Amino acid sequence: MRRTLTAFDLTCLGIGAIIGAGIFALAGTAAAGEAARVGDSVFKTPVINFIEAFVRNTDLVFGRPAAGPAVAVSFVVAAIACAFAALCYSELASMIPVSGSAYTYSYATLGEIIAWIIGWDLILEYAVGNMAVAKGWSDYFVKFLYSVSHGAITFPLWLVTDPTTAATRISQGGETTQYYSSVALPHFLGHSVAFDLPAFLIVAAVTVLLIYGIHETAKTNSTIVVVKVAVVVFVIAFGAFMVHPVNWHPFMPSGFGGVMSGAAIVFFAFIGFDAVSTTAEETKNPQRDLPIGMIASLIICTVLYVLMALILTGIKKYTVYLGDSAAVATAFASKPWAQALISAGALAGLTSVLIVFQLGQPRILMAMARDGLLPKFFARIHPRFRTPYVTTILTGLVVGGVALFVDIGSLADLTNIGTLFAFALVCSGVIVLRRKDPDRVRPFRVPFVPLFPLLGVLFCFALMLSLPIETWVRFFFWLAIGLLIYFLYSLGHSRLRHGVDAGETENEFPPIEP
Ligand code: ALA
Repeated sequence: MRRTLTAFDLTCLGIGAIIGAGIFALAGTAAAGEAARVGDSVFKTPVINFIEAFVRNTDLVFGRPAAGPAVAVSFVVAAIACAFAALCYSELASMIPVSGSAYTYSYATLGEIIAWIIGWDLILEYAVGNMAVAKGWSDYFVKFLYSVSHGAITFPLWLVTDPTTAATRISQGGETTQYYSSVALPHFLGHSVAFDLPAFLIVAAVTVLLIYGIHETAKTNSTIVVVKVAVVVFVIAFGAFMVHPVNWHPFMPSGFGGVMSGAAIVFFAFIGFDAVSTTAEETKNPQRDLPIGMIASLIICTVLYVLMALILTGIKKYTVYLGDSAAVATAFASKPWAQALISAGALAGLTSVLIVFQLGQPRILMAMARDGLLPKFFARIHPRFRTPYVTTILTGLVVGGVALFVDIGSLADLTNIGTLFAFALVCSGVIVLRRKDPDRVRPFRVPFVPLFPLLGVLFCFALMLSLPIETWVRFFFWLAIGLLIYFLYSLGHSRLRHGVDAGETENEFPPIEP
């Protein structure tokens, strides 16, 4: 690989991977929070609320507190957590001279089991993250067709949403249901049926494209970055004239708890900056450019997100965004041409995130398979297209299949808890390695160790605690399955343990098997 990329290129790449469903699909739901519903209220409540009620000996308030217009502050909190993690990523990435993901770096530095946990967690970041992005795509798709056709193209609710979202929309009624030709849900064996067909189809389309091997161009596609940023700037500049400042009161309807709960959701909007570190081998001056690329893309996105959050909550009262995964389209509902334009831009932006993540997941599975931690056929390469088709198809089927039935909120929460945990491990890893291996060459060094990595761990943990109980339960379940696979399969097949060093080969294709 040639060293051609500069800090500027890396910043563009970072922005390309970052802007997506977090701002387009989740900012609204974070602002609106979630009222406790009968039946599931306890599980929707953030863990920190339980701790607080216990410590202060007060009554527990059920449900997820709304950030309100202060969702703008939530974005800043989430960005700070990411900035500490980005510095730690840079140090680990600079220590081993190859491209790769957090899995690769930790395999080389922190040992196999930590690497396994991180790799297993990255499935939440990439695959489950993409399920959430596909859901946002679907919602914008429906609103886009509605606005360009002046309401002529609509679909029945059951064909374009999952059961949970369908139930929320029906209970809200009013403006939320105007986009559907009917809101009646068919029944099957006593259960109401709904599945999100557009989410499945877009994942299928991206999967087919990736098997044919459009990956390199897609990853650095600067046109899409320009389109995305242009849409965001348009929303900010044009929306500024539609703001009613009275909507910003109350600014923080649920106090700081709401801000943290919002931050735990919109953290999703920053995921993907780590994609920058995968280019270490193609960068002119990695030890300088990698941290600059990550931090610069984080800063630029934070500024855009904060402004956009203020505009969205200024145009309409934050409460209208309850359960709305296309909040930007909703904000501009009174101007169909603007709504169509924004939805088209959002669709392009979300597609680019889908491609980057859908491209990353198979490579991580492939790397794990090469290290012997997953079955060997995972690393198989297509003889003609030279792409890891087995893992690409597998990822596509799982991502599309789950996106049919699960709501965006649950998917984003699970993505966030997994990614936050991986970030916390990466931050701790920096401290551990400074002790264990102090003489190793570190072209980039995190300043103020151990303070900065510790702050990284602290922020990540605080955000994790601001996620609902049900997310923690799912996460523990996920970790338990991962550890079970590790001890039952991977440990026995590990190439490292058999004295074979597979090396870090995430970006190189292995020889084709007969
Ligand atoms: N940051 C990416 C998004 O918001 C994952 O879609």
